[in-house]
Amino acid sequence: MFKNSKQNNKQKKIWAGRISKNPSIDAEKFTSSIKIDKKLYAQDLIGTAAYVIGLEDIGILTKSELKEIIKALKVLKNKIEEGNIDYDSYEDVHSLVEFELEKIIGKIAYKIHTGRSRNDQIVLDELLFLKNAIADIINLVLELQSVLLLKANKNLDLVFPAYTHMQKAQPVLVAHYFLAYFEKFKRCIEKLFVNFETCNFLPIGAAACVGSGYAINRKLIAEILKFKFIASNSMDIVSNREYIIDFIYTCNIIMQNLSRFAEDLIIFNTQEFSYINIDDSFCTGSSIMPQKKNPDILELIRGKCSLVIGSLVQILTLLKAIPLTYDSDLQEDKKILFNVLDETSASLKIFSEVLKGIEFNKAKLKESCLSGYIEATDAADYLVKKGLEFREAHKIIGKLVSYCIENNLRLNDIKLEKLKEFSVLFDNDFYTSIELESCINSKVTDCGTSISSVKNNLLKAEGEISAFKYRFQNLLKKIPDFNEVVDKYLK
Ligand code: ARG
Repeated sequence: MFKNSKQNNKQKKIWAGRISKNPSIDAEKFTSSIKIDKKLYAQDLIGTAAYVIGLEDIGILTKSELKEIIKALKVLKNKIEEGNIDYDSYEDVHSLVEFELEKIIGKIAYKIHTGRSRNDQIVLDELLFLKNAIADIINLVLELQSVLLLKANKNLDLVFPAYTHMQKAQPVLVAHYFLAYFEKFKRCIEKLFVNFETCNFLPIGAAACVGSGYAINRKLIAEILKFKFIASNSMDIVSNREYIIDFIYTCNIIMQNLSRFAEDLIIFNTQEFSYINIDDSFCTGSSIMPQKKNPDILELIRGKCSLVIGSLVQILTLLKAIPLTYDSDLQEDKKILFNVLDETSASLKIFSEVLKGIEFNKAKLKESCLSGYIEATDAADYLVKKGLEFREAHKIIGKLVSYCIENNLRLNDIKLEKLKEFSVLFDNDFYTSIELESCINSKVTDCGTSISSVKNNLLKAEGEISAFKYRFQNLLKKIPDFNEVVDKYLK
């Protein structure tokens, strides 16, 4: 029933020796991770380069052996990138690197694993991978923020109703709405910078779980790989995956924001609202209903958010009962991480594109502001300014709104005489005080929608983007580069 040693297994194993039989084909397929972790090849190569430099430093490798290995790593990188690897013949990315090196330089390759384990190696690969991934996501969020500012600046004169409980509330500048999302994504960028620092420690030296039997110079390896910190406890190192949880959590917040934003836009795009028009190149049609133009991309972003939420639960569940130290369950972490990363970056990328192409239906926005009594709060504030207690003013305007509804009127349709029946405080200046522009500009708090606050906040936002970009450039300097590392040792 089981195919075992008689079967000619394809995969070479770095651990063959103790195990008397080849694994069954099914077992091999089940345990192998190459299909997923081959994505980490670049990190495994640069990690190995730094490690062998460390091995030479303590005399495990000679200078010429080091040179040979480094040269071979370079050759191997090209070979992988040219697509000349038979991935199926390896169990995982670590054995791929070791056996492929052996093909190039022979037995010297079998020294590279001295004093290290796949258990600390995989953590190293993941941390290096995440440093790049976090940088990519920061870049995409910054791009989205630039689009938000562009749209806000372009639509500074546009007013539409803000909603609470999905009921029209008060007039607001479209630019203020965009700045709301700017703030939300600002917090995401701050989180990503923190995430980067949780990936900024050297794990190597932990080996399998209790530390390495070789006095490798961890400081030297950390410097080569640009890690700021050196992790302290080997048992913690090989069992830690918090850096993945943290990153996935941040991706959750990003996707929540995108999903809420998408939901708004889907609503604004309905025939009933017709506030916006989505560019045709980001919509799809129906196979049966010829008239349809569907906002699929936005719906898919909402949908993909569920995968990212599920992934957070998945990674937490994966970790919750892992006895110290390393257990194979941890191998499943990469599928989760890669999925989240792919969906989040694809969503960010396309959302920026969709947003760029959105046009506002100005007539419709204006028309919408004319119904729903969205100036009622300002009407109450008018009476307060004339000396009335707010609660009294609220009651009077409430009655006035009911009267308007019964008689199919707007607040500023009511003659002054009639207004005076509701309160003697009403005067001719009431009418200008409830015009849309007055409602917008009467919001004097600096977080509000007045044109002056919004203009200030737009300027502030431009400055914040510049500051983020500066920090981003510094962050890029903390990511090691393969060619830089190897070329230094080939001179
Ligand atoms: N492939 C493993 C992972 O992704 C790394 C190797 C773990 N070590 C082991 N003895 N299975 O976590």
